[in-house]
Amino acid sequence: MKVVSVVGARPQLVKLAPIADAFAGTEHQHVIVHTGQHYDADLSDVFFTGLGIPQPDVHLGIGSGSHGVQTGHALAALDPVLAAERPDWVLVYGDTNSTLAATLSAVKQHLRVAHLEAGLRSFNRRMPEEHNRVLTDHAADLLLAPTEEAMRHLAGEGLAARSVLVGDVMVDVCLAVRDAVLAGGKPAALPEGIDPTEPYLVVTLHRAENTDDPERLAALVDALAGLPVPVALLAHPRLTARAEEHGVKLDRGSLRVGRPLPYAGMVAAVLGAAGLITDSGGLQKEAYLLGRPCTTLRPQTEWPETLDGDWNRLVPDPHELGAAPWAAVATRPAPPAPRGEPYGDGRAAREVVRVLTEAGR
Ligand code: UD1
Repeated sequence: MKVVSVVGARPQLVKLAPIADAFAGTEHQHVIVHTGQHYDADLSDVFFTGLGIPQPDVHLGIGSGSHGVQTGHALAALDPVLAAERPDWVLVYGDTNSTLAATLSAVKQHLRVAHLEAGLRSFNRRMPEEHNRVLTDHAADLLLAPTEEAMRHLAGEGLAARSVLVGDVMVDVCLAVRDAVLAGGKPAALPEGIDPTEPYLVVTLHRAENTDDPERLAALVDALAGLPVPVALLAHPRLTARAEEHGVKLDRGSLRVGRPLPYAGMVAAVLGAAGLITDSGGLQKEAYLLGRPCTTLRPQTEWPETLDGDWNRLVPDPHELGAAPWAAVATRPAPPAPRGEPYGDGRAAREVVRVLTEAGR
């Protein structure tokens, strides 16, 4: 069996790591195509080296642009690559513009598409990721769902016959890296001004709905800067670019700004932190897996299982809470509630290879 994985953005590289590893022990041919949606070393190269992923077989170098331009460039560049490879499966990941482009290119060429992380929904039709995941699920031939909740969403949209519950490949990589970090015993590389022996919070903020409106961005940064503990803000290039454009100063109050961290560095930073504040999907789940309380700066989450037992709390607007309750939420201690295994047991990638092999016959 020949499988082409198409990736392009940071969270896809994290999911690719356990998949590439699972294919490495088989007779199958696994080809990696990188669209180049993320091109900064911090968002791409360090994930290949840090997670031991083989270098991409093909790199398309599409770069940034408006949604249409970025998706269109990737689509046009993928057509000849997939035509030449003619794989048994095109494997697409998550919900980025690269996911949608690869899906469109493949289905138009009558190549079978499998969607990893199928069935997630925020039901917020203004999110670019929501367009990408809904359109991808409806075009794909095989829907690899990470959770029971995702399976229910797919069934509700008439897609049950194409859906398989495989678990979440991010558990595979997160738990393996956690063990390596704990065994290595090295402290996290935090922004200057954060003392890792004192309580601190980790923050990431990059979603378009939080960064692109100047007033919203300024209000969120104000709320973070006013927290009573040091805050390590690991700034995505989108955040840095929009903050500069809108004249929002990031390095102030409790905020200490640093660059995005490689995967193991992020796991170490979260393990050392008192809690996490984010708008990332993946980090909400990593906080849950690593046992740190998370506060999510969004009105919805695609990972509602993390909300159980107050391990994750949705705060769409910190100012609505008032300064003191917001600080109390953001710095709340880890709750006593046990965490279940809603995302599987860390063997999802092998299950993906097994399902692709079975369904490919
Ligand atoms: C993308 C995904 C998002 C995912 C995120 C993870 C879409 C629609 N969004 O968002 O779902 O959670 O990746 O990081 O696909 N930039 C750089 N260097 C880079 C990449 C981007 O400077 O290597 C800057 C550019 O100014 C660019 C902006 O970041 O315009 C946004 O990048 P883009 O790939 O469009 O979306 P992300 O915000 O990264």
